[in-house]
Amino acid sequence: MSVVPYKDKQGSKKEQVATMFDNISGNYDFLNHFLSLGIDIAWRKKAIRQLKDLQPKQILDIATGTGDFAIEALALKPDKVTGVDISEGMLAVGRQKMKKKGLDQKIELLSGDSEALQFEDNKFDAVIVSFGVRNFEHLEKGLADMYRVLKPGGRTVILEFSKPKSFPFKQLYHFYFKWILPKIGNTISKDQAAYTYLPESVRAFPDGQNFLEILEKVGFKNTQCKPLTLGISSIYIGTK
Ligand SMILES: C[S@@+](CC[C@H](N)C(=O)[O-])C[C@H]1O[C@@H](n2cnc3c(N)ncnc32)[C@H](O)[C@@H]1O
Repeated sequence: MSVVPYKDKQGSKKEQVATMFDNISGNYDFLNHFLSLGIDIAWRKKAIRQLKDLQPKQILDIATGTGDFAIEALALKPDKVTGVDISEGMLAVGRQKMKKKGLDQKIELLSGDSEALQFEDNKFDAVIVSFGVRNFEHLEKGLADMYRVLKPGGRTVILEFSKPKSFPFKQLYHFYFKWILPKIGNTISKDQAAYTYLPESVRAFPDGQNFLEILEKVGFKNTQCKPLTLGISSIYIGTK
């Protein structure tokens, strides 16, 4: 059974995830950096560096949210970054941010679902996702559609939480993630479920080798996993 944010409410995982991100969109950027002590910024930069040699011109950022990964991708000097998301609330915060930073000509944020992308086959040089795939309702379907819109020879780079394995870090991290993070996150975001869903969805997510097997199943080649910060997050790479 898939993990959903609001266990006592009706609605598919996709509907619940969109509602949850609409609810927390105003506090999302602050909480992201605060709860990760800013480490998420370094993770995004490292993930984007995995595309440096490819010099992608057309980049698709799936589950773009408020657009931070799309902004980071500008370091690659692409012609355009297109971001898609199912949460209008997150997109609205993102669009305001792009306008304020003068980036709205380079980065376009569109409503769009990873499982039914509105783009033709073989369109993008790179397809990127940060902290998005864990929230997909149908993981394989989302990854397969990412593969479809990628050009042959193109690359996907996926950044996602994973589970640290070594003692005593595993235990410390587990304590923080289960007991501290939900209390701070739920209080500041004023959503009683969002930051309880976060550790639950990470626990249920097939990380490491399991995720590489799914990438390969939908067609990606030369897959790699690069764990970050003792395995709290991982970068996954695949080629079409
Ligand atoms: C944790 S946020 C990550 C946002 C951004 N990528 C970042 O790194 O800050 C996850 C995002 O995934 C989006 N999302 C979840 N399922 C999606 C789907 N099927 N298609 C597109 N976006 C989706 C949510 O609406 C949310 O904005």
